[in-house]
Amino acid sequence: MAKRKILITTGLPYANGDLHLGHIIEQIQADIWARFQRLQGNTCYYVCGEDAHGTPVMLLAEKLGKTPEALIAEFKESHLRDSKGFLIQFDEYGSTHSESNRELVYDIYQKLKAAGHISTKTIEQAFDPVKNIFLPDRFVKGACPRCGAEDQYGDNCEACGATYSPMELKNPKSVLSGATPVSKASEHFFFEIAHFEGFLKQWLQTDQHVSTPIANKLQEWFEQGLQAWDISRDAPYFGFQIPDVQDKYFYVWLDAPVGYMSTFKKLCDPKCQPNVVPNTEIPVPGAANVCHPAVLELSAATALSFDEFWGNGSTAELRHFIGKDIVYFHSLFWPAMLHGAGFRTPSSIHVHGYLTVNGQKMSKSRGTFIQAKTYLKHLPPEALRYYFAAKLNDGIEDIDLNLEEFRQKVNSDIVGKVVNIASRAASFMAKHFNNQLSTKLADEKLFQHFADESKEIAQAYEARDFAKAMRLIMALADEANQMFDHAKPWAQIKVEGKAEEVHQVCSQVINHFMQLMVYLKPVLPEITNQAERFLAVNDLAWESAAQPLLNHAIHDYQALFQRIEEKEIMSIVEESKQAVQAEAPVAAVASQPAAPVKEENFISIDDFMKVDLRIAKIISAEPVPEADKLIKLQLDIGEEKPRQVFAGIKAAFKPEDLIGKLTVMVANLAPRKMRFGMSEGMVIVASKPEGAQLYLIEPQTGAEPGMKVK
Ligand code: 2FM
Ligand code: ZN
Repeated sequence: MAKRKILITTGLPYANGDLHLGHIIEQIQADIWARFQRLQGNTCYYVCGEDAHGTPVMLLAEKLGKTPEALIAEFKESHLRDSKGFLIQFDEYGSTHSESNRELVYDIYQKLKAAGHISTKTIEQAFDPVKNIFLPDRFVKGACPRCGAEDQYGDNCEACGATYSPMELKNPKSVLSGATPVSKASEHFFFEIAHFEGFLKQWLQTDQHVSTPIANKLQEWFEQGLQAWDISRDAPYFGFQIPDVQDKYFYVWLDAPVGYMSTFKKLCDPKCQPNVVPNTEIPVPGAANVCHPAVLELSAATALSFDEFWGNGSTAELRHFIGKDIVYFHSLFWPAMLHGAGFRTPSSIHVHGYLTVNGQKMSKSRGTFIQAKTYLKHLPPEALRYYFAAKLNDGIEDIDLNLEEFRQKVNSDIVGKVVNIASRAASFMAKHFNNQLSTKLADEKLFQHFADESKEIAQAYEARDFAKAMRLIMALADEANQMFDHAKPWAQIKVEGKAEEVHQVCSQVINHFMQLMVYLKPVLPEITNQAERFLAVNDLAWESAAQPLLNHAIHDYQALFQRIEEKEIMSIVEESKQAVQAEAPVAAVASQPAAPVKEENFISIDDFMKVDLRIAKIISAEPVPEADKLIKLQLDIGEEKPRQVFAGIKAAFKPEDLIGKLTVMVANLAPRKMRFGMSEGMVIVASKPEGAQLYLIEPQTGAEPGMKVK
């Protein structure tokens, strides 16, 4: 069968934060699939890179006193180190802030413009009068206009789910300066996606470009009517300037996916000067660039052709692996942009669900917001690669990393089933048979059965149903162990005349181990490498699983994998909590104290006396599962019944740490009906304007529930 040409990508990480396990699960998914394809003899390139533009990158660089370029370079290096730590094999790793990306972005934009797909319109937007900057929706916070919940972002309310524009918030504040934003007009550029409605509808329904649930979900957007997409941002902004206009930049999401193209283009450059040589050393800035070995090989034979992969009518496969939060960009805007500019469109968008840890959204305070580097400090990458493989399929359901299940599954499957077979048989091979495999197997049928499974396992990998592939492989591992147990070589070896039988059994089991390693190679590349050394074979290919090793000398067995201990998991959780505390001052983009009190905000003593502040004892505190930010408190203020209050403080406190504490509440706030029940007051906390860290107000010893605070 003709070999396939495939290009795959994963979401480009933003150059303003470390990689966490949510990024890693996607890269592992793509990497397993890419390695599987290569093992099938297909050509598969995997590219990724930095998503370098946008307001957050600009502001973080400013805060750290660096240029955005320096910040991007630092994150590129650390992101690559983390990915490499998880054995992710990129063929090229680029950045959207590159000349080649600019050229492609301009080219696409000019083509769309020439074809009449770009329009302009003056719109009103929230503007920070202190920082002189237009504010993205998430940079404005205030009380929800519908339910009144405090501290909500400018796009939607996490308490009641309402959506609105930032200026509709009650008492809106800029998270950058704490100032009240003003509404300001400015001309914006729009991509007229509605021009592509017919094309997109057709594209979404054919050739499995997206899965059925995703196509159905996107149908809602057509029903609402496709709105022109705002692709410009006003200065100051870090991005590419829009040609022929002053102080207008392309919105980060316009140039981000073009980064897939420009990064691939680097691979095709005959001069071949990639910034990074994946899976070798991270480049030292200023050091000579080196060609990727695959590229060297290609440039000698046939140079890799950009058009072959990106030109209209390309027969190469283009597959994007993404999370479900960015489906809209990849399944509507991106194919429309490509189509409108005369390029090929993606073959498929593979969407995965969110990663949860211990059944909940990753949480900094619970220590389950785990950074890639924190994990790697304590545990081997292949443990997580295997666990994720065992959980991943082609669906969009969330994937849960249950830390205890993870430990047990890895110990039971990799150590107890796979590695165990090799170590059990190897000791007999070394002790009794001089590490020479027998000339005949004990059970050829069983070997053939293992070989025959290759088809179904390959189908499962191909369909990205890695969970099924792992189940099939582990069922074989069970069979191999059972065969060994049943043959009882430890007893038989003591029986006169049984040596050859034992030899054949052990050789059989070593051969099964070889077959399992072939099937697990995309998931466990390093263990397979070590297994190849143990088996004294060069490079296990998919077909190797059908070829028994007979009368073949192997090497002494060295331990291939260690059990995961509880203490390693605990260290990861503990360090994840600390990492967040250490990072907090940097992560908060602006950490000025609150703006000085202005005279026009003075109130009279009578005004103040209207607020009934009381000492409250927190008698219970529970998370509200449907709301990311809320904790449900029961507060004793000396009344007959405790008060129930929903407080938006979950990011800063663990509910269990609050129980028993005294604090201060506003006791005469009118009760408010929320989605989860009545809120009968409000607790007050201290925070900086951006509100990342919150501080409970605790009275001195001696204060009692119900005392008035005045
Ligand atoms: O959501 C994100 O993290 C984006 N940085 C992903 C970009 S993917 C591609 F389009 F560049
Ligand atoms: Zn609300």
